Amino acid sequence: MKIANKEYRTIWFKNNVVKIIDQTKLPHQFIIKDLKTIKDAIKAIKIMEVRGAPLIGATAAYGLVLSIIENNDQSFLKKSAEDLISSRPTAINLKWAVDRMMSKLLGVNSEKILEIAVKEANEICEEDIKFCENIGLNGLKIIEEIYNKKKDKVNILTHCNAGWLATINWGTATSPIYHAHKKGIPLHVWVDETRPRNQGANLTSYELNEENIPNTIIADNTGGILMQRGEVDMCIVGTDRTLSSGDVCNKVGTYLKALAAYDNKIPFYVALPSSTIDWDIKNAKDIPIEERNSDELSHIEGIDENNEIKKVLIYPNKSKAKNLAFDITPAKYVTGLITEKGICEASSEGLKKLFKK
Ligand code: MRU
Repeated sequence: MKIANKEYRTIWFKNNVVKIIDQTKLPHQFIIKDLKTIKDAIKAIKIMEVRGAPLIGATAAYGLVLSIIENNDQSFLKKSAEDLISSRPTAINLKWAVDRMMSKLLGVNSEKILEIAVKEANEICEEDIKFCENIGLNGLKIIEEIYNKKKDKVNILTHCNAGWLATINWGTATSPIYHAHKKGIPLHVWVDETRPRNQGANLTSYELNEENIPNTIIADNTGGILMQRGEVDMCIVGTDRTLSSGDVCNKVGTYLKALAAYDNKIPFYVALPSSTIDWDIKNAKDIPIEERNSDELSHIEGIDENNEIKKVLIYPNKSKAKNLAFDITPAKYVTGLITEKGICEASSEGLKKLFKK
């Protein structure tokens, strides 16, 4: 997708270096950063220079490429894989990508290993782009249906950033939006600010602006009243891990939005590539929920009058804060799952029909 009218992907590999867009600096500064070592890749995931479930999976895949370039040794590779998996616990794409890479790399002792690793990491990215594009084409049908009934602008609410910046291209939740916009369907997006890190305001609104899609940032608690006033036609969010039962783990606050949508009979869709499905965990209580530093709540970052990025304390300095990064929306509140293979009910039957696991 575009930034300042130039097409970008979020990650690419060139001359033995991984290139990323540093998302901690957006929207105020656009910086392309080089990752040269496995440590660089792990740090980029941990401090969220890259974030979003599919993108952290792709970064982990290229992280293993960097690990091989640094030290082509199987025990070093295994340790790199373990460190990558533990760098952010909730998004299943991270483990999915590492497992997929390791199934090709374990036991390969020849020089060919680097070629195999680069090929697989590139394939993970190409596949994600194709899957996200298909999610868009499938989700487009829902937006079209609403537009054909309403014959007026479609208002879509989204939470966090499940846009192209969270994937390699297109995004998951935003892909149907981009496809509808390209088709000429008039739409407007309500963007949840998404405290504490403001991925909605800083990333979703930014990327929609760059594609000229009308959008308005709202405080996270505003969605409810907008729904009561009939100003939301549908919600689409992403997910970091969806269980085979259809329960959806996503950025904290998603659950409350789903409850409000349910109460107001507004369709609530979750968009995901199959790499985000956890077929193993059966009980949502067993999903590891990342708890991040409370600084993310107590401090806020922005630019000052000299265009310099500044971080300021906004809480009483004696106050404690708890920063759970994700929550779980039970399947019963999810209208449907939009996947690369089609749209299904958020249930094990629905997922089985599409993926035959
Ligand atoms: O903490 P983040 O910014 O990595 O969280 C991102 C989300 O919660 C997204 O909704 C999810 O990863 C889906 S991305 C297509």
